[in-house]
Formats: sequence, C-alpha cells, structure tokens
Amino acid sequence: MSRAARLDSAHITPSAHYTGYVWYRHHLADESFVTPFGRLAHAALAPVNWGARLAFGLDVERFLLQRHLLIDALLRQAIEQHGVRQVVEIACGLSPRGRRFCSRYPDLRYLEADLPHMAARKRLLLHEEGWLDARHQVRPVDILVEQGGNDLQALFSGLDREAPVLVITEGLVNYFALPVIESFWTRLAAQLRVFPSATYLTDLYPDLREHPRYRQLRWGIDIVGRLTRGRYYLHYAGEQAMVEGFGGCGFTEVRVHDPQELDAALRDAWPALVRVVEARIL
Ligand SMILES: C[S@@+](CC[C@H](N)C(=O)[O-])C[C@H]1O[C@@H](n2cnc3c(N)ncnc32)[C@H](O)[C@@H]1O
Repeated sequence: MSRAARLDSAHITPSAHYTGYVWYRHHLADESFVTPFGRLAHAALAPVNWGARLAFGLDVERFLLQRHLLIDALLRQAIEQHGVRQVVEIACGLSPRGRRFCSRYPDLRYLEADLPHMAARKRLLLHEEGWLDARHQVRPVDILVEQGGNDLQALFSGLDREAPVLVITEGLVNYFALPVIESFWTRLAAQLRVFPSATYLTDLYPDLREHPRYRQLRWGIDIVGRLTRGRYYLHYAGEQAMVEGFGGCGFTEVRVHDPQELDAALRDAWPALVRVVEARIL
C-alpha cells in the first residue's frame, strides 16, 4: 500500500464525527452517537454550508441524507424481499444504521467495521448503551491491507457461508484514487464469491462534467480535501463507466441508483451528484 493511501486513511476518520452529527440532526440517530468534535465541526462549517446553499443551491446535508436514505431503502428491500440476514458495514464510523436495523429486525446479524481506533470507539459506544450482543458486533478492518489480522478475510471469517450476505460502505470510496479503491473492490468481490448470493452497496460521486453544478462541486471537493488533509476523487464519468468498472472488479450484476428514486422532498432541482451502486455476485 502506498504511503499516500495510508495517509488518506488516517485523515478521513475525523469526518465520521461530522457525518455522525448530521445523522443525529436529522433524527436518524440517538444523541449517544454525537461527539463534541462532531458538534463543533458542524458549527464551524455551518457558514460555508449556508453560503453554498444560498449561492449555488448546493446543500451538503442533503447530499448526506440522500445517500443515507437510499442505502437504507436498498438494505430494507434486501432484508424484506431477498432474505438477507447478515450485514457487514465497513467504514461504519459513527453511523447508527447497525443499531436502527438490529432493533427493527430481531433476527438480523450486523457486523460493523472500521480502522482499529474508530472500531474501538464505536464498540465502546454501543457497549455503554447496552446495544452490543452476539448478533451486533464491531471489528477492526483496514480496506487497504491485503494480508494480516485486519484484512477482509479475517473480517468475513465468522460469517455464515451458507446464507446471503450484504456489505455496505458509505462515505469511504471517493477518498481513494481509483486504482486503490478498485483493488479493494476486487478483493471484496473475491471474498463474496463463496456466499450463495452477495450484494455490495456503496455511495459514489461520479465525475459528471456536464452537470450544471460541476464547477461548484469541484470547489466543494477542494474544501473537503483540505479539511481532511487528503484528496477527494470523483470516479467514473457516468453510469456505463460505473457498470463496467464494477464488472471489471468481479461483480456480476451492477445497478446504479439515483437519489431521484427518493421522496420529492430530498430531490434537487437538477440531476443529483451522488449515486448508490448496488453490485451483486450471484
Ligand atoms: C466519512 S466517514 C463515514 C462514516 C459513516 N460510514 C457515515 O457515513 O457516517 C469515513 C470512515 O471511513 C473510515 N476509514 C478510513 N480509511 C479506512 C480504511 N482504510 N479501512 C476502513 N475504514 C476506513 C474512517 O475511519 C471513517 O470512519
């Protein structure tokens, strides 16, 4: 793994506190998921967000909600219509999804995973609230490592290989250059091949150059890059490129979801900037 990719990883973690606060603000998380840093970061960025909303109609919280709710809807569908009973959420950060879905679906097994220090923090949080048990657990993982205790093989080793599985990443993939993240997707697809069926859900910001807000989006990306002291990459030029890219990593069926599928309240006046990819291995 390159030094640049490793540094990217180390710098991404603080952003989980910000998104954790946004989940809470929109009534998707309990207050226990809020950290002082998340609250502070949200207050500090409020003027920038306000300016972007007013000047360009770009609303960062709406982007976050679009991806949270679209992934939630696809996860619900997988559980209720396709019999998924085991979920792995990689780069879980302070996401409350595991908690919400475990309380809604009593026979669901939910494994959350993140870099070791964030995983430890999340485990403590869930433990203190009395929410951890045999079916809801938190494990360390580093998507960049190809071998070792924190690799994908170790993460997946305790799962039931006779049952379908669903894996989620949210707010992760655009922090890495395409070859780095495609290497992760290829290793993930290899792990998933042993299950009778497997689904991978991820949000992804494509490089939509023709989008009416493309220039402003690039400015926003520069800001995110500076705040996380790394870079933020846009991957693939459109739906066809996404389908081919995930196909090249070993997924056999790829669908690209647009937040336009969500309720009107969450739609923008122009085409959405984020997509959710549903990549399956059948
Ligand atoms: C923007 S946060 C998203 C958190 C959560 N998924 C959400 O949407 O609220 C990105 C997360 O990716 C995790 N992360 C960064 N590099 C990683 C890596 N190499 N392997 C696993 N997780 C990583 C960070 O620790 C952080 O929790």
